[in-house]
Amino acid sequence: MCVLDLRCIGISRLASRKPASPPVFLQCLHEHKTKKVTLLHPISEFEKAHSKAESMSNSILVTGGAGFIGSNFVLQWIENVATPLVNLDLLTYAGNPANLATLEDDSRYRLVRGDICDAEFVAAVLRDNRPRAIVHFAAESHVDRSIADPSDFIRTNVLGTFTLLEQAKLYWSGMDEAARRAFRFLHVSTDEVYGSLGWDEAAFSESTAYAPNSPYAASKAASDHLVRAYFHTYGFPVLTTNCSNNYGPFQFPEKLVPLIILNALERKPLPVYGDGSNVRDWLFVEDHCLAIRTVLERGRVGETYNIGGNSERKNLEVVTSICNLVDEFCPDDGSGPRKDLIKFVADRPGHDRRYAIDAAKISQELGWRPSVEFESGLRKTVAWYLEHRSWVQNVRSGAYMDWIRQNYEERVQP
Ligand code: NAD
Ligand code: TYD
Repeated sequence: MCVLDLRCIGISRLASRKPASPPVFLQCLHEHKTKKVTLLHPISEFEKAHSKAESMSNSILVTGGAGFIGSNFVLQWIENVATPLVNLDLLTYAGNPANLATLEDDSRYRLVRGDICDAEFVAAVLRDNRPRAIVHFAAESHVDRSIADPSDFIRTNVLGTFTLLEQAKLYWSGMDEAARRAFRFLHVSTDEVYGSLGWDEAAFSESTAYAPNSPYAASKAASDHLVRAYFHTYGFPVLTTNCSNNYGPFQFPEKLVPLIILNALERKPLPVYGDGSNVRDWLFVEDHCLAIRTVLERGRVGETYNIGGNSERKNLEVVTSICNLVDEFCPDDGSGPRKDLIKFVADRPGHDRRYAIDAAKISQELGWRPSVEFESGLRKTVAWYLEHRSWVQNVRSGAYMDWIRQNYEERVQP
């Protein structure tokens, strides 16, 4: 339950502002799980953001836009599209407003902190901003965390998607006929819902039966089914995309690619699960974002589109390629090649053997194809992490979480 002061809907650009002086605070209380989080914002911030709401009509609403793919999507959108964008994000450990710091002064961008599980809050965001489309990224996304504790995955991915769908449907029902026809709800999902492929099996197509194997995949599968049901039952205009593994800038360094880049750089052990022969189909994140925009603009309502990089690689190949790139960028200091740091560790329980995407449908219907080869995308990604050491340091040290605490939780009035 959330005790919500609707004035907090207007909060924006919390990332780098200090409280106004003398500070007059608005209070927004959120209950997240069992922990009550108190959010306090200077009233001047509220006023600025609230007046901006005017220019946000005809916007799109993105959920989870401060995460890895969401950040890339928001940056690409603002660079290429005139339509304003509202980013609804809870800023969990995976959400980092610093990713979007370059949009600080862009009047077409607005961050609203909140939880997609909170129906009242979601309804107010929709009412305030009147978006013409929703692109839903917000999720718990890390398979290993879902194995350690699935509860957040069920909460956000299943209940959160349900809450968002329900509120979006209510909002859409109240639109005039033309606006209803133009409205879209795009649900961003994963290829992991299809389960695990054998070495010689055909790649996942849109008609492959769902067979999720991890709690993460099961929670995303459940959300996909809810999205589908809202189309079939209510005629709610949905689109679903199921994408393969992404890599690129802003990925939280607990996932394979950034983890290996940073460990290799620091000459720490490079953990490879099992024998390293598991296969993933890798897609550069900017290609994924472009695919989502393409589906949003031209996808057929009610359809699902698989998105992939046509770049199947064994994990060991990926790790070795990263080692070679780090060796090239940071030449050997006499300690030997980084691939010597590879350490085979206990396998992930239920580790899916192989993912591969058949992206013929999006390619033939909508003309989208991946444009970045895996080798050049990986090179760009390694270079990005090497050039953004302070971003890495902030994320890893928890400094940005400290920042969030400082700006949201520690401003409690006596
Ligand atoms: P991420 O974990 O980096 O980001 C998730 C974002 O959602 C964060 O900003 C977080 O703060 C926000 N969030 C979490 N719970 C929330 C809540 N209850 N309310 C509001 N915001 C909340 O994830 P990602 O890797 O960017 O993935 C984004 C989407 O794409 C997910 O739905 C994921 O399933 C899907 N996907 C990811 C990949 C991949 O390789 N990363 C591939 C295919 C599909
Ligand atoms: P990950 O980035 O967690 O994505 P996903 O599980 O969603 O595919 O992992 C990619 C692959 O790398 C997966 O097969 C698990 C493997 N992996 C390792 O071998 N070592 C690691 O430390 C991590 C995090 C992943």
